Amino acid sequence: QTAQKSGYKHFMLKEIAEEDESVRNTIQSRISENGKILLDDEISIDKGFIKNIDRITIVACGTSFYAGLTAKPILEKYTGVKVDVEIGSEFRYYNYIYSKNNLFIAISQSGETADTKEPLRMAKEKGIKTLSIVNVKESAIARMADSCIYTLAGPEISVASTKAFVSQLAVLYMLAFYVGQIKGKQIEKKAKMLLSIPKLIKTTFNNTVEAAKKLAEEYHRYKNFLYLGRGLCYPLALEGALKLKEISYIHAEGYPAGEMKHGPIALIDENTPTVVVAHSKEPLYSKSLSNCEEIKSRDGKIILISDKQADIVDETIKMPEVDYELLPFIYVVPLQLFAYYMALFLGYDIDQPRNLAKSVTVE
Ligand code: G6P
Repeated sequence: QTAQKSGYKHFMLKEIAEEDESVRNTIQSRISENGKILLDDEISIDKGFIKNIDRITIVACGTSFYAGLTAKPILEKYTGVKVDVEIGSEFRYYNYIYSKNNLFIAISQSGETADTKEPLRMAKEKGIKTLSIVNVKESAIARMADSCIYTLAGPEISVASTKAFVSQLAVLYMLAFYVGQIKGKQIEKKAKMLLSIPKLIKTTFNNTVEAAKKLAEEYHRYKNFLYLGRGLCYPLALEGALKLKEISYIHAEGYPAGEMKHGPIALIDENTPTVVVAHSKEPLYSKSLSNCEEIKSRDGKIILISDKQADIVDETIKMPEVDYELLPFIYVVPLQLFAYYMALFLGYDIDQPRNLAKSVTVE
């Protein structure tokens, strides 16, 4: 079917506004009310194999790669297995050493990205068990893998990916819980919490859209941004910076906050604002605040995205309370909105940014 803008100025904003529904569609028939993950019909891989998986290798590009990176610690925690997250264009030329019971996962919105497709083909050729997480039905990557779990995000038109990202996260979290469930772990409580995410995404959108717009109005003339986060917030910093680059053509670097002192701190001055993503319950929250102090002492402006206010920063986008492990689903929303409004104030073609394509089917 042809997607319509339905009153929104751009597909990107419409698609961010649809993230609650995209996650709901992706999880609702796959998690029971009592927190059981119902993926048996979609994963045709033998349960005996799943019980004995000894490594998970995720390959993807762009925003799909960041979805994999975000979910990595969750997958490791609930499956008890080491997870590697690899860039498709590197992986295809790298002599990757698979383990005995390796599961290979390809993540792709379009299901046609050449740099993700080729590693999947190579894994299959080696006899590795493969799974794909894809949004577009019957696409190449969906058809090639032994099993495919579809993200039910609906058509994504804007070149910059938004609702596909949260839906990919939803599938990756369900997969983590599913493997945990097969291994006899208690995952029900967390799985049930996942059911509350769509509503929280909606609240986050409503609560942050105006704040993101106001900040963009104030900050769109800056030429360089730094994005920092730790733990689960680190890949979100990367994704936030990517969104800004893609549609507003502003240079932005995403970095793990602790690494700031090993390089990016040299960039900080009054002309380089930093977006800090930090959840107050994260183990290293106080360290993220120390980073803020270091930025302030070098006259850097700080935009904090957090559930807690901090006096030291210039601006805060106040986030709703959420369980630490589930924060990526909602903390990404203001990052996407901020990038959107920055591009809007700069007058760029948001849905069709220069030099980018929705799906890159050539190398
Ligand atoms: C292109 C798009 C990105 C996307 C990436 C991976 O570069 O512009 O938004 O994240 O491809 O696409 P895929 O369809 O494989 O998720």
